[in-house]
Amino acid sequence: MRIEDAKIIGALPELSVELRRASSLAELTSLAIGGTTDLLRIKKHESIPGLLSLLDSHRVPHRFLGGGSNLLVGDGELPWIVLQLASPEPDVVLEGNFAQVDAAADLGRMVTYCAKHDLGGMEGLIGVPGTVGGALRMNAGAYGMQIGSYVREVKLYRAATRQIEILRGEQISFEYRHTSFAPDDMMLAVKLELPSKAYREILQGIRICNEKRRSSQPLGQKSAGCIFKNPPGASAGRMIDELGLKGLGVGDARVSDRHANFFVNAGKASAKDMLALIADVRERVRSAFSVELEHEVVIWNA
Ligand code: EPU
Repeated sequence: MRIEDAKIIGALPELSVELRRASSLAELTSLAIGGTTDLLRIKKHESIPGLLSLLDSHRVPHRFLGGGSNLLVGDGELPWIVLQLASPEPDVVLEGNFAQVDAAADLGRMVTYCAKHDLGGMEGLIGVPGTVGGALRMNAGAYGMQIGSYVREVKLYRAATRQIEILRGEQISFEYRHTSFAPDDMMLAVKLELPSKAYREILQGIRICNEKRRSSQPLGQKSAGCIFKNPPGASAGRMIDELGLKGLGVGDARVSDRHANFFVNAGKASAKDMLALIADVRERVRSAFSVELEHEVVIWNA
C-alpha cells in the first residue's frame, strides 16, 4: 500500500516520522518472506497518538512491526502500511536492579548489557532473536524462564484510549506465549527488575543455554522460531517428528531436519508455500493425535 495523501506526507517531518517507500517485508523478517508496503519509522514516542489519529482519519490501515522474528507476512502488495519504532540511544538505562528498556532495543543485546552490569535472570532468552517489545507482547520464554516475571512497568500506546499509558506489572497478565495486551496496543518501553548476579555466573548460564539451543535448533537458517505452541503437557516438535515429517516441504518451505517445530525458508519460499506447509502439518497432527495445534508464529496474511 502506498501513502498518497499529501496531508499525511506533509505532517510526517514535524512528527519525527520517516517514510520508507515500498519496503520489502522479506528484508525485515527472519523468515525472509513477505511482500511490499510503505513503512513509517517513528523516532519519538510522543508523536504516536497524533500520527495514529491522522492515519485513522484518512482510513489508512496499519500494523506494528517489531523485530520481525516471529512473523509470517503475506506475498505481493500488502493492504496495510507498517509502523516501526526507531531505537533511541541509549536504549537501556540501569538504576540499581531496574532496567529501563526501549521496546525497539534488541533483546539479545539488552540481556548481555544487563549481564555485564551483574543483572541476571534472563539467561534463557539469549539467542532469541527480535526486539524487547516483541518479547514482551508474546511473553517470550525459554529454558524455564519468561520475560513477564521481571516486568514491573510497561509504557504503551493503547489503541482503546488512543493515549500513551503506563501499566504496572500486576495490571498485565503474562501466560505461556500470551499476554493481556490488545492486538493493536503498541509496546513502547518496559521497566524490568532483575536479580543481582555476578557476570561470570550469568555467563555460565548463557553458555549452557547457547549450547542447548545450538544442538537442537536450526540457528543459521531462515525461520521464525517455533511455528506452533506446545499443547498443554505435550511437545509440538516431538509430535511432528514422530510422524516422520522432518524435511517435508512445499516449494522452498521445509520442516527443519534439526527441530520439527521450526519451519525454514530454504531458498525462495513464498508465504503461500509456508502457509500450505503449516496447514498440511497441522492436519496430519490433528488426524494422528486428535490435537489442534495453535500457531505460535504471528501471521499477517490479509
Ligand atoms: N523433540 C523431538 N524432535 C524434534 C524437536 C523436539 O523429539 O524435532 C523433543 C525433544 O527431544 C524434547 C521435546 O521434544 O524432548 C521438547 O523439545 P525442546 O526442548 O526443543 O523444546 P520445545 O518444547 O520444542 C520450547 C519452545 C522454544 C524454546 C525451547 C527451549 C515453544 C513452542 N517452544 O521448544 O521456543 O526455545 O522450548 O526452552 O514453546 C519459540 O517460541 O519460537 C521457541 C523456539
